[in-house]
Amino acid sequence: MCGIVGYVGKKKALPILLEGIKNLEYRGYDSAGLAIIESSGIFAEKAVGRVSNLESRVKNTSSHGSLGIIHSRWATHGSPTEVNAHPHTDCKSRFFLVHNGIIENYGALKNALISNGHVFVSETDTEVLAHLIEEASHDGRVVLEDAVCKTLLRVKGTYGLAIIDAKDPGKLIAARNFSPLIVGVGRGEYFVASDASAILRHTRRVIYLNDGEVAVLTPKSRRIFNLQKKSVRHHSEKIEWRTEAVQKGGFPHFMLKEIFEEPDALLNSIRGRIDMKRGIAVLGGLTGIKEKLTNIRRIIISGMGTAYLAGLLGKYIIEELTDIPVEAELASEFRHRKYIFQKNEAAVFISQSGETADTLAALQKAKKHELLTLGVVNVVGSTIARETDAGVYQHIGPEVSVASTKAFLSQVIILTLFAIALGRERKTVSAKDARKIFLEMKKLPKAIQSILNMNEAIKEIAKKYAPYRNFLYLGRGYNLPAAHEGALKLKEISYVHAEGMAAGEMKHGPIAMIDEQFPTIFIAPKDSVYEKNISNIKEIKARNKSPTM
Ligand code: F6R
Repeated sequence: MCGIVGYVGKKKALPILLEGIKNLEYRGYDSAGLAIIESSGIFAEKAVGRVSNLESRVKNTSSHGSLGIIHSRWATHGSPTEVNAHPHTDCKSRFFLVHNGIIENYGALKNALISNGHVFVSETDTEVLAHLIEEASHDGRVVLEDAVCKTLLRVKGTYGLAIIDAKDPGKLIAARNFSPLIVGVGRGEYFVASDASAILRHTRRVIYLNDGEVAVLTPKSRRIFNLQKKSVRHHSEKIEWRTEAVQKGGFPHFMLKEIFEEPDALLNSIRGRIDMKRGIAVLGGLTGIKEKLTNIRRIIISGMGTAYLAGLLGKYIIEELTDIPVEAELASEFRHRKYIFQKNEAAVFISQSGETADTLAALQKAKKHELLTLGVVNVVGSTIARETDAGVYQHIGPEVSVASTKAFLSQVIILTLFAIALGRERKTVSAKDARKIFLEMKKLPKAIQSILNMNEAIKEIAKKYAPYRNFLYLGRGYNLPAAHEGALKLKEISYVHAEGMAAGEMKHGPIAMIDEQFPTIFIAPKDSVYEKNISNIKEIKARNKSPTM
């Protein structure tokens, strides 16, 4: 996942850029590059592999420039080579830019540029942007921001962009469309970043750019407008995360740290939201739309990956506690497929980051059809948080690890609170029942802690199963989304094939695959379907000798 950092101010840009991009390393990348405007011209460098490779290349240079951009690239168009690494530039090496996202119509644009005499050096979609800006600038007769707007009007696709012009040494341009990009506001300096953790050490005041907006930043000023050059007013917002929250705090990696933060994360998502006395869930973010919620006849919950699976669990919970039918939809499907909308329908979008492109597109579709839109989001001020009619924040601190862990639990707990809030309004849940659920919820952080305390024993189990290359996760009811989530996490983290499946589905075909080399993990607590799960386990053991857990 690519990262962007940009700086304009009075300090030396190089150390700020390197430190910023290092803070985004956890997201994964395969090459990195930077460009800084020096008094003698542009200083640019790239390296394949770690940021430390780039750092070694630039460590003996005496860069004094105070305007620059840096990027870590995760290859999409073209292999991870130095030539394909960002920044990219035009024929005359005047405009340098870094880009996150995908330019969908780059093929047609590239052909047109080539026939106009432009020479391309990389295989990337991004390089077309540099040449388009070159063309639009008419040798500098058109100011950079106008050339950028003109260029972006020709482009179809997604972008977070930071752009500099060697001949305009005090100006940093940022632009966004469906790729996260923020502007950090310092004293006599501005930052651009694809993620706040890159710049938190320098400033906590940020501006969240909207899609289709361009920011022109100089040490002393900022102007923000849309592609038609119409000014847009933005106030900066304060990020409350502590810097330690984005550091590893003694854990070998962020994922482990975040798993161990789960009890606290749950407490923070529940805090202040339970009124035991009245037996109600207090979701402040929904007060403004209380009346509209009363009329809701159907709910669609949408998200991607883990967030979608939390939504699937939310469907089961809401349907159990209310009289409202719920659809859970992958945002990537919902955004493209024909969906039969109904009157009085609400759509809930779940997203830790609040920036996932498919989820954003699904939200836009729901808005177009005038649904009441709600968000369950962690990152305050993120696009989904801003674009929805109302919502509930997760309050779990930054999730730095790419794999969602504490966020999943928090999303499920918030959906449960939401279900109780709806159920109490509709009288499908009594105060007594709500209190019962609240009491169980309050026990969760301790229960999770007691599992985390078994860390060493869990490690032993992991060692035992590490040699296997295929796993099946089975569950029923609430534990079906949990089975899918288990399989997703194993695939993502261990690169081991795993499938999540409804336990009842297993004997209708999939059982043929499993044998002694294909362990099955059953999520089978003592609930109403416990006996059914036990007979499935017996079946698997008897017929295929799959090691079961
Ligand atoms: C899996 C994982 C992803 C995210 C998904 C949505 O571990 O992290 O599946 O859950 O990409 O991300 P958000 O919640 O930021 O919209």
